[in-house]
Amino acid sequence: MCGIVGCVLKNEKVAPILFDSITKLEYRGYDSIGLATACEGKINLKKDAGKIAEVDSKLNLRDLEGNYGIAHVRWATHGDPSKTNSHPHLNKDETIAIVHNGIIENYLSIKDKLESEGYEFVSDTDTEVIAHLIDKYMKTGLDLTQSVRQVINVIEGAYALAAMTVSEPNRIVATRKDSPLIVGVGEEEFFVASDSPAILKYTKNIAYLEKGEIVVLDEEGVSFLDADDEPIEKEIEVNDWSPDMAEKEGYPHFMIKEINEQSAAVKNTLSERDKVKSIVDEIKGDIDKVLFVACGTSYHASMTGKYLIESLAGIQTEVLLASEFKYSASSLDERTLVIFISQSGETADTLKALDVANETSRTLAIVNVRGSSATRRADYTIYTQAGPEIGVAATKTYISQLVAIYLFASLLGEKDEILKDLEKVPAYIEDVLKKQDEIKRFAYKFKKLDKVPKYLKPILGKPNAYKGLDKNFRHVEDMFFIGRGYSYSIALEGALKLKEISYIHAEAYAGGELKHGPIALIDSNIPVVVIAPPGEDHKKIMSNLEEVKARGADIIGIGAIGDEDLVLKSDYTFLINSEVNDVLAPLVYIVPLQLLSYYVSVARNLDPDKPRNLAKCVTVE
Ligand code: M6R
Repeated sequence: MCGIVGCVLKNEKVAPILFDSITKLEYRGYDSIGLATACEGKINLKKDAGKIAEVDSKLNLRDLEGNYGIAHVRWATHGDPSKTNSHPHLNKDETIAIVHNGIIENYLSIKDKLESEGYEFVSDTDTEVIAHLIDKYMKTGLDLTQSVRQVINVIEGAYALAAMTVSEPNRIVATRKDSPLIVGVGEEEFFVASDSPAILKYTKNIAYLEKGEIVVLDEEGVSFLDADDEPIEKEIEVNDWSPDMAEKEGYPHFMIKEINEQSAAVKNTLSERDKVKSIVDEIKGDIDKVLFVACGTSYHASMTGKYLIESLAGIQTEVLLASEFKYSASSLDERTLVIFISQSGETADTLKALDVANETSRTLAIVNVRGSSATRRADYTIYTQAGPEIGVAATKTYISQLVAIYLFASLLGEKDEILKDLEKVPAYIEDVLKKQDEIKRFAYKFKKLDKVPKYLKPILGKPNAYKGLDKNFRHVEDMFFIGRGYSYSIALEGALKLKEISYIHAEAYAGGELKHGPIALIDSNIPVVVIAPPGEDHKKIMSNLEEVKARGADIIGIGAIGDEDLVLKSDYTFLINSEVNDVLAPLVYIVPLQLLSYYVSVARNLDPDKPRNLAKCVTVE
């Protein structure tokens, strides 16, 4: 949800570095981009709506003079994506520039007051009030840092913001509350940024800003003020991610690179076993209920967690969407362990729920981003070792969350045989990845025709539209995914991936639930993905397959090598090592579905890394 970068350099021109850094945050928002630098008493500004590459080819964003500056990529909340609404925003005199991530909830009342004092607004954003407020405070004689402190006292909501002014050359002042902001401390370059991939190329020394703290960057380095305005020293941590991890390294998209990194992500996360064991040892005996809380893909990992903890450890387990937490989490007590799953550790809904749970219960965060807010608020943290994930659609972080949950559940339930099975998962994933061309070829059938041939026009949109027309799937606009038990959670995640990046309407159902309603929708225009690993539910899911097939649906079967029944009854099958049973299936069966989504997105000429309307990190409720 918006990315911000601020940078002060000793002598060099800052715009190329700012541009490079903000490009690494494009996953946080791609409605618009803007950079502001300053030199010789003047702010230089370039900004516009559009993706970074488009705007850069129009404006040449790297061509700005000055040693200090700020940059922003936007995910619009207030006001449409347009040049005027793009950040940085300036005061009327064009002496102050600011960038902001988050939402200023009381901006309307601030705006009314500022307008009554003669301030004029040019944008529809909530952010612009910050530029005018700083202007107002500086005109009373305060410096930039003091003015930012006054702004904090006035604005409500979630924010990370960075400000600069021509009257204080080579200085950037930044602060945060409920939106992430890290501080990069290099030799001769000093940064603030929404996330570490923006700065890893320049420095791995990172300090994490807490709510209400202010950081001042200048040519000499960085200094911090706490929430009471007292100078403080902050610990500088060394981030062990390499800058290459945040590069495409020859792949056409981050998403396919990240899908291909999943075997390594599983191996690396398995190496957290001792850490997980020490947490389990500490809490075991003190808990008689587990509650998972998460959003989106992390919620689907949590669903698997419920099945696992109940079956392996025999502890009652519930799952709640973080955004629904406050409506139904009344039964928390000190014997409940609340597990928060979050790739970013910055999801606003999840953090809100974490704060509430902390009042009564023990809390554990399973998180990929080091130092993120969830890790600093939960009692315990398990880091997934997926490395940075840039593609907006979660893939390798999902698999890594699952691995952390499998470790936790098996250690809690003392199930050594599952721990042994987990060691084999990287090889099973490799096997799937080796066969990705099969899925690529199949996904190509979903390619939309640029020009619809005349003979197809009268029948498109009618039931049976594509039946008999060489079994292409190009007219598919709806798809179902079905599974049972563990495979139901795979179906949910498979459907989410497909809808996120291909814009095909995809729904997941528990196989047994179809006949209670959704089957009314089935006809030959809705292919059904059937997830059918070996295990006790295999027969039942095959019956569900028969039910949809009888209503004309094409079947995409995902099952085990040797499952001839599935091959016979499906229109397309993808087969997986038959040692992967229903319990392990979430870790392996999701991979062909991620690949299918990716290749369908590519076949439809979409950008899987930057799906419309989405952002990687959702820092607003
Ligand atoms: O960072 P988090 O895991 O807390 O994010 C939760 C969801 O926003 C995220 O999983 C979202 O659903 C992704 N777009 C999934 O691909």
